[in-house]
Amino acid sequence: MRPPLILETERLRLAPLIEADAERLFPMMSDAAVMAHWDIAEVDDPDLVAAIVKSQVEDMGAGKAIYWSMRTLDQGEFLGICDLSEIDAWHKRAEVGFMLDRKAWGQGYAHEAMQAVLAQAAAMGLRRLAARTHLGNRRSDALLEKLGFVEEGLLRGFVERDGERRDCRLFGLLL
Ligand SMILES: CC(C)(COP(=O)(O)OP(=O)(O)OC[C@H]1O[C@@H](n2cnc3c(N)ncnc32)[C@H](O)[C@@H]1OP(=O)(O)O)[C@@H](O)C(=O)NCCC(=O)NCCS
Repeated sequence: MRPPLILETERLRLAPLIEADAERLFPMMSDAAVMAHWDIAEVDDPDLVAAIVKSQVEDMGAGKAIYWSMRTLDQGEFLGICDLSEIDAWHKRAEVGFMLDRKAWGQGYAHEAMQAVLAQAAAMGLRRLAARTHLGNRRSDALLEKLGFVEEGLLRGFVERDGERRDCRLFGLLL
């Protein structure tokens, strides 16, 4: 399963995440609205975002995941990230994730990017994709359903966030 370098869609260019993208990701990860349904709260330290991106780049090197930066084709504007993580070559499965800057919401960019990621997953021979959303993350749930994911269950108390346990929805898609 060799990862692709670049994916292009009608409006977007997805390229493997690099460490220098951390500074473009920081504005998103420090935005409380973007991070409202993420496993960790908004981040106020750019070094923490840099450390997260570094470990994501390492996971890519180890074949465990593919993280893509998402930019507009025309202007090259950085809009966010999406990924295939927890890649299990034996069982042919992985998890998907996505995060967009708030200014890019509501324009179909996440849907467009994820369609390319799903096609790539199928081309890599993956047969099952999973996604997990915090209860109440309606935009993510809608996106996953539009992509054909089916809700498979509720993971009770799955995440510790802001001193409380949060339930998560589990979604799956068979390719
Ligand atoms: C989850 C997230 C990526 C969804 O972004 P989004 O912009 O709502 O998702 P989409 O790309 O599917 O856009 C959907 C909306 O764009 C609108 N739209 C505008 N132009 C469009 C186009 N050309 N094509 C499709 N949709 C378009 C549609 O109205 C659509 O809304 P609808 O389905 O209610 O009609 C975004 O809310 C986000 O980054 N959230 C924070 C991070 C997060 O929670 N990530 C997920 C963790 S599991």
